[in-house]
Amino acid sequence: MTALTIRTATVADADAMAAIYAHYVLHSVATFDTVPPDPATWAAKVRDGELPFRVGEVDGAIAGFAYLSPYRPKAAYRHTAEDTVYVAPQFLGRGYGRLLLTDVLECAAGTDLRQLIAVIADGGDGASERLHAALGFTVVGRLTAVGCKFDRWIDTVLMQRDVPR
Ligand SMILES: CC(C)(COP(=O)(O)OP(=O)(O)OC[C@H]1O[C@@H](n2cnc3c(N)ncnc32)[C@H](O)[C@@H]1OP(=O)(O)O)[C@@H](O)C(=O)NCCC(=O)NCCS
Repeated sequence: MTALTIRTATVADADAMAAIYAHYVLHSVATFDTVPPDPATWAAKVRDGELPFRVGEVDGAIAGFAYLSPYRPKAAYRHTAEDTVYVAPQFLGRGYGRLLLTDVLECAAGTDLRQLIAVIADGGDGASERLHAALGFTVVGRLTAVGCKFDRWIDTVLMQRDVPR
């Protein structure tokens, strides 16, 4: 299997990230977006974000990405971030999601973050919950029927772990 090379994202990755994310917007409940954001939105996220934003490449193709974003905007939440990880459908099941999430955890260790939260839609294949559990996240809560997509009410599961030190 070809190795995944993980590096910091740049605005040049925006088209690829938009395409990966659009797949999950249109075909899954993994995200509660219903309209895919355009590449300019992704470029702005990369340019303006102050927390780690990483992409994984295989033979020059972007296979997935993972990043951290502020959990909430209010100042006292500044040591807490939410993680996001997406792998392109053609690259699923090869261990890349685990590598990307592991990498972003390692990046978090170099910041002043203390807690990481994953907000996971319950209604897909369970991959994200299992991946996060494998990397030390535990379930800390469930928000019931907070999403409505494809005519279904969807819960979110909240998972949390300390930033590794
Ligand atoms: C979650 C996601 C990133 C996993 O990516 P992946 O590269 O396929 O995952 P990996 O191959 O690294 O597998 C890691 C672990 O995830 C779990 N997993 C992966 N695919 C799974 C599936 N289809 N069903 C159940 N668990 C699965 C397993 O626990 C697996 O560990 P194991 O192989 O030791 O059993 C990917 O499914 C994805 O992009 N999903 C859509 C977006 C999403 O839900 N993102 C998370 C929101 S924050």
